[in-house]
Amino acid sequence: MVDRIEKVGVLGAGLMGHGIAQLAAQADCSVILVDISAKELEKGIAKIQKLWNKDVEKGKLTSEQADELMKRIKTSMDINDFADCDVVIEAIPEIMDLKKETFAKLDQIVKPEAILATNTSQLSITEIASATGRSDRVIGMHFFYPAQVMKLIEIPVGEHTSQKCIDLIVDLSRRMKKETIVCRDTPGFIVNRLLAGLMVEATRVYDEQLASVEDIDKAIKLALGHPMGPFQLFDFSGIDTMVRVADGLRAAYGDRFCIGIGTRNKVRAGDYGQKTGRGFYVY
Ligand SMILES: NC(=O)c1ccc[n+]([C@@H]2O[C@H](COP(=O)([O-])OP(=O)(O)OC[C@H]3O[C@@H](n4cnc5c(N)ncnc54)[C@H](O)[C@@H]3O)[C@@H](O)[C@H]2O)c1
Repeated sequence: MVDRIEKVGVLGAGLMGHGIAQLAAQADCSVILVDISAKELEKGIAKIQKLWNKDVEKGKLTSEQADELMKRIKTSMDINDFADCDVVIEAIPEIMDLKKETFAKLDQIVKPEAILATNTSQLSITEIASATGRSDRVIGMHFFYPAQVMKLIEIPVGEHTSQKCIDLIVDLSRRMKKETIVCRDTPGFIVNRLLAGLMVEATRVYDEQLASVEDIDKAIKLALGHPMGPFQLFDFSGIDTMVRVADGLRAAYGDRFCIGIGTRNKVRAGDYGQKTGRGFYVY
């Protein structure tokens, strides 16, 4: 296994991937960001540039430092460019078959001593690792959205994940200036298992038309001190992704995670939230 992570590959430049690439560059790593969509790569880089520009305006970075940081990130549409990475962090859609197929490919491409990490929200690390021949070097690295802002990285470990692999990922997380918690590989890990209880119940309350979406969000924010209400969070994080997470939890734990029909219909209609311009709210 590698002794220190210097070169980071990030697969997927969407909501999560671009933020992870930005954090890796800020941790002094060279970064290669790969996506199947040129548009997503372009959008991801533009968002990173915008945040570094803001840091320059606020005097947190000089424009030379911002330029240097940007030079560390290369983009590509070819997964073969990950060959000499020390770690590849995957952030593609929450679909087990897609993750397994992708990890099997990465296992063939990326140098054998490297680590393969997944940003999955709730899928089994052990099952994803089973698609590779390096299950001691497969691990979860669960960032929260927006990755640049949220302080925690949850690190679920598979049945075969080695201590050295955990230590290297904890070290990389600290260099990204994040706190970590290491946990067992169970569906939803800690954060999403607990969060989904609230989110799934909110979809039922929505179906019951208990109150307006605005008022339910207001209630949760003001009564519980949450920074945003459940429907704002659905729209912010992507209703498509959240519904996939709930479906995964339902398969594992039963109908207490059964998502309401009104929310499922939003996914069927392509209304995923902020990223498509319409969800529980219109943007
Ligand atoms: N959105 C959140 O709040 C959140 C938080 C934590 C973890 N996650 C997890 O992160 C992962 C990604 O979620 P997201 O919200 O960034 O999704 P997203 O839809 O915003 O981005 C996914 C990206 O993957 C790309 N992609 C799809 N198939 C690909 C492939 N085969 N190879 C390369 N790129 C591919 C897409 O073009 C897109 O840019 C999921 O596993 C999700 O559960 C999401």
